[in-house]
Amino acid sequence: MKKMLIAYVSRTGNTAKMADYIAEGVRFTGATAVIKKVSELKDADALADYDGFIFGCPTYHKDMTASMKTFLFLAEKANLAGKVGGAFASHTHSGESGPMIADTMQHVFKMDMVNLGALSLKQDIVNTDEGLKACQAYGKNVGEKLAG
Ligand SMILES: Cc1cc2nc3c(=O)[nH]c(=O)nc-3n(C[C@H](O)[C@H](O)[C@H](O)COP(=O)(O)O)c2cc1C
Repeated sequence: MKKMLIAYVSRTGNTAKMADYIAEGVRFTGATAVIKKVSELKDADALADYDGFIFGCPTYHKDMTASMKTFLFLAEKANLAGKVGGAFASHTHSGESGPMIADTMQHVFKMDMVNLGALSLKQDIVNTDEGLKACQAYGKNVGEKLAG
């Protein structure tokens, strides 16, 4: 069975909720989805057992968090070239982090990114049925790409 890692940062829970909903969508496709906070992933070996990766982080001060930047340096060492990838984020207005993460995954790690780009949701949408469905659909899309 294919295995997807969903690794995220969340300060107040919005992005964490997106991770849960995206995992549901991944599981609809028959893949296993494992959800971890980036703080739980201590070295590149922690990324070794997965076929696909979805990384998420909210926007704070028009940027991703320092913890996500540190995690991306760790992920760089895991050699994710050619692996299926996606990215997600919640925000209130400017929403830089999702596209930034997707950009690094695509251009630096050379991953095989889902063609939807990053899923960026305003925080008010995350807790609605629309938010749930958008996250599930995104997870399903990445899961289908993983299934090939
Ligand atoms: C101090 C602070 C700075 C923020 N800066 C931005 C920002 O620059 N752009 C933006 O779109 N949202 C910004 N936000 C909103 C957060 O991205 C939003 O609340 C997000 O859903 C938080 O996700 P989390 O609950 O996963 O931590 C900011 C929030 C706080 C508290």
